[in-house]
Amino acid sequence: YPAGNDRPERRPLDVVAHRGASDDAPEHTLAAYRKAIEDGADALECDVRLTADGHLVCVHDRRVNRTSNGRGAVSTLELADLAALDFGSWKAPTGEHEAPDRDPERDNREHTSVLTLERLLELVADSGRRVELAIETKHPTRWAGQVEERLLALLGRFGLADPPRDDPSPVRVMSFSARSLHRVRAAAPALPTVYLMQFLSLRYRDGRLPAGVDIAGPSIRIVRNHPEYVARLHRAGNRVHVWTVNEPEDVELCARLGVDAVITNRPKAVLTQLGRR
Ligand code: G3P
Ligand code: CA
Repeated sequence: YPAGNDRPERRPLDVVAHRGASDDAPEHTLAAYRKAIEDGADALECDVRLTADGHLVCVHDRRVNRTSNGRGAVSTLELADLAALDFGSWKAPTGEHEAPDRDPERDNREHTSVLTLERLLELVADSGRRVELAIETKHPTRWAGQVEERLLALLGRFGLADPPRDDPSPVRVMSFSARSLHRVRAAAPALPTVYLMQFLSLRYRDGRLPAGVDIAGPSIRIVRNHPEYVARLHRAGNRVHVWTVNEPEDVELCARLGVDAVITNRPKAVLTQLGRR
C-alpha cells in the first residue's frame, strides 16, 4: 500500500492454518493440512527444517522429542530416521479429524508420518482450489543459507519460486530472521516475505520493516498491547499477518483493526466466527 495512506481496500481477513488444523490433528502432519484444506483455510503455515541428508521437513522444534516418539535434533537425523518415528500418537484424538469412510491405513499413516515439504506442496497442488502457503524458515543461521537454497530449489520445481509480478503469489516465506528473508529476497525477488516479531522492538516501532520485507508478522501479544501498531504498519505500506490467533476475542480484535491475515490453530472456528462457513 502506498506509504501515508490507510489500508485502501478492505479485503476479507485471510485465515491461515497454523501447522495445519493443529487443534484437531497432530501439528505438521498431512492429516492436519488435509483437514485445514477441507475446513476452507485460505492458507497453510508450516515450519521447515533441514535433515542431516538435506531434506526439508515440516517440524517446528529443533528436536523431535515433543512431537514424536524419538529423540534428537532434526539436523542430526536423516529422513529415513524420521520416517521410522511416530509423529502423531502424542496428540489425543479430538474426533474432529476422523473420517470413517476413508482408508483407515492411509489415515493412520497421514496422522503419524513425518511430512516433507515436497509432499505438502503436492497436497496443495492436488487440492483443486487456491490454497496459499506461508513457509517459515527455522534455524537459518546454523545452515548458513542452505535452508533457503533448498527451499527455493524445491519451490522452483513446482513453478512457485518466481511468481508473476501482477499476480498474488500463492507462496510467501516467513522468518524471525531478517537475514534469512534477505537471502530469499536476493535469490527470488518476486517471492513475498514476512518478518515475524515476538515483541515490539524499538527499531521497527514506526512501522517500517527490514529492507526486502513486504509483510509484518507481529504476535497477537504485540497487537493486544499496541493495537495502534497495525495502523502504523499499514501507513508504512506493509500488510499485517498476526499469529497465533486462537481466541474469539483476539479474532474480533484483529478483524476490527483490519489486519490482513490471522494465523490460527483453529481455522474452522475462525472461519465460522467470521461468517465464512
Ligand atoms: O506463524 C508464525 C508463528 O508460527 C511463529 O511462531 O513458534 O509457532 O513458529 P512459531
Ligand atoms: Ca511457525
